[in-house]
Amino acid sequence: MSDPSEKRGLWKWPKSKWLLGIPLGGFLMLGVGAVGLLVMNKVLHATSTSEFCLSCHTHQGISVAEFEASSHSYNNTGVRAECADCHLPDPEEKWLHYVMMKMVVSLDIIAEIRGVANTDEKYEAHRAEWARKVWTEYRENESEYCLHCHQFDHMTIADQPRLAQRRHTRALDTGQSCIDCHQGIAHKLPENWEQIWDEVEQETASVVPATGTKLAEGK
Ligand code: HEC
Ligand code: HEC
Ligand code: HEC
Ligand code: HEC
Repeated sequence: MSDPSEKRGLWKWPKSKWLLGIPLGGFLMLGVGAVGLLVMNKVLHATSTSEFCLSCHTHQGISVAEFEASSHSYNNTGVRAECADCHLPDPEEKWLHYVMMKMVVSLDIIAEIRGVANTDEKYEAHRAEWARKVWTEYRENESEYCLHCHQFDHMTIADQPRLAQRRHTRALDTGQSCIDCHQGIAHKLPENWEQIWDEVEQETASVVPATGTKLAEGK
């Protein structure tokens, strides 16, 4: 029904005064893209602060108290490990993985609205299940997040307490990663955590062999 000449008219080369629109449009798109990226980066950054994490995890009162009490919050050096340091990939080095993790984590909003963990009691009831998830992740990425700050290469192992010297030297041989001995570094351990840890170790034995090692203290 449409008049073919009209159609041709639509596609004909634009009048010269409109031609300027092409580069202008291009610049506009670039501008919109840049602003979009900036906004996105701001949002990504803002949602990686401990304040943001704690905006939900505060209802689960214990997380705050545990975090504040841990040596990773207050210590002689004044260096503080934020939630994201230990729970998200480094955005500088692994941007894509970081963005993907944030998308997955944003689904926790649903659980938050459902009130899955809005009291200490509910949190405690789920702790084992969530610790299991984090341990599995740590076993699989070989404690990548600890390595954001710590490196065996930069430890003066000889100056460490005897037990640490022995264990760290052994870890270098066996390929064990930090989490294999340092469970519960920033949070209270779940009840019957030893059994859960053993299960996680077995399930991830293809990454790092299961050794049954637990908790650095007193070993
Ligand atoms: C919108 C509220 C909300 C925010 C913000 C939030 N969380 Fe959570 N988080 C939850 C809820 C609810 C769960 C339990 C989810 C479930 O049922 O699996 C959870 C679970 C977790 C777990 C348990 C293991 C897992 O992988 O599911 C970790 C670790 C965690 N959050 C860390 C963080 C960190 C780090 C931040 C900040 C970057 C953060 N959360 C921000 C609500 C939130
Ligand atoms: C943001 C940097 C950062 C991250 C990430 C980090 N740490 Fe630390 N860690 C520190 C600093 C700084 C100290 C020194 C604190 C002190 O003087 O007690 C420390 C101390 C320690 C100690 C000795 C004190 C103690 O509490 O027993 C251990 C063990 C340790 N870290 C293990 C880990 C493990 C395991 C991870 C990963 C789950 C990790 N750290 C992640 C910065 C970090
Ligand atoms: C094979 C077990 C094992 C592994 C793996 C391991 N550690 Fe340790 N670590 C220990 C033991 C045991 C101690 C001594 C604990 C104590 O004295 O209470 C220790 C102590 C430490 C200390 C305190 C040192 C000091 O001078 O007081 C830091 C920091 C630490 N470990 C960080 C790490 C980090 C980071 C990783 C991963 C890169 C790691 N450890 C891997 C067993 C291990
Ligand atoms: C020093 C590293 C470190 C810091 C800092 C840290 N976490 Fe964790 N987090 C872990 C590890 C490792 C686990 C696995 C369980 C364990 O070993 O305690 C864990 C477990 C969890 C869990 C699962 C439930 C549990 O209690 O085990 C939640 C939820 C969580 N972290 C949230 C947070 C939030 C929110 C913050 C900031 C307030 C934070 N974490 C700070 C290392 C850390």
